[in-house]
Amino acid sequence: MNQVDYLRISLIDRCNFRCQYCMPEGAELDYILKQQLLTDAELLTLIEEVFIPVGFTRFRLTGGEPLLRPHVVDLVKAIASLPQTQDLSMTTNGFLLASMAQNLYDAGLRRINISLDSLEEDIFDQIIGNRGRSRWQNVWEGIQQAYHVGFDPLKLNVVIIPGVNDHEVLDLAALSIDKQWHVRFIEFMPIGNSQLFGDRGWVSSAQLRQQIRERWGLTESQVCGNGPADVFQIPGAKGTLGFISQMSECFCDRCNRMRLSADGWLRPCLLNESEQLDLKTALRAGVSTAKLREQVRHLLAIKPEINFKGRDTGTTGVYSRTMSQIGG
Ligand code: GTP
Ligand code: 5AD
Ligand code: SF4
Repeated sequence: MNQVDYLRISLIDRCNFRCQYCMPEGAELDYILKQQLLTDAELLTLIEEVFIPVGFTRFRLTGGEPLLRPHVVDLVKAIASLPQTQDLSMTTNGFLLASMAQNLYDAGLRRINISLDSLEEDIFDQIIGNRGRSRWQNVWEGIQQAYHVGFDPLKLNVVIIPGVNDHEVLDLAALSIDKQWHVRFIEFMPIGNSQLFGDRGWVSSAQLRQQIRERWGLTESQVCGNGPADVFQIPGAKGTLGFISQMSECFCDRCNRMRLSADGWLRPCLLNESEQLDLKTALRAGVSTAKLREQVRHLLAIKPEINFKGRDTGTTGVYSRTMSQIGG
């Protein structure tokens, strides 16, 4: 059985983008009220007194957009400085990264994943739901700055949407050639905005690999990630190409993670909503951290049965929480 030692922590459910596949303009989202968010102190208590003692040593900060969380740099510092923290990473849309990358690095963050769905300003803005001055340049500068500061590995997340950015597959893959950038193609999931999914469908990793193979050839990479991505490489490239294929393939058997929402719900699987634990309410009600450890251990023991083995490849959009609420 896989060791589950990786916790994805959503710091905030709000975002400064409105990605069409996640939280599009006009979608009705019940934002978490400020008083319902885990405070920094509560989060650190849970990490130190519950998650670390039951075996979690690797943490990823997500959102919404994690850089919108007040005092995020201090939080990074606090988590990074715990002696048991073996790995601390973040997934961000990159908009605020240019000015924050150095501080985040200095605080102890070492790995960063940035969403980049297009290299064309107008398409990028269409995907992220931006109507004002283009935001592409800000994100691009964020990526460059993160690279300059020394984040390693630096991963770029791409979701291919048919008819929108599928003509850019090769250009996006080419970003892995000259720099040690790791481009990952994530299959579009019917979570968040199922309507768009129904309209457009999705492209499988196998189709993408075929396209890339025809252009450059493709070899399996020796570099193995710790996530669900299958890693490949264009021969001679400095970086790699990852494929996260949750629609066409089931990687539940190697799942090594749980998720903590910004309002303190511990969720054993991205796609299965049963058996979640409301840690914040328990903590505020005075339940001891010893008792919480016991509950989390139980969840760890039953996780293999909870893992979502049946992929929803249709358009039902049955999930009550979106990616921005769960943290991807
Ligand atoms: P590292 O490999 O540690 O860099 O992390 P990662 O790839 O898990 O992190 P990232 O936040 O960049 O995740 C990218 C996307 O992969 C997520 O938004 C999800 O779409 C998908 N993903 C990650 N973990 C899971 C999982 O457990 N189940 C499913 N179905 N999809 C996942
Ligand atoms: N399908 C696939 N990936 C998604 N993401 C957000 N919503 C979806 C979806 N419906 C991805 C973003 C980001 C990561 C956190 O989740 O592109 O890189
Ligand atoms: Fe924001 Fe990320 Fe969702 Fe886009 S995918 S709206 S950047 S949380």
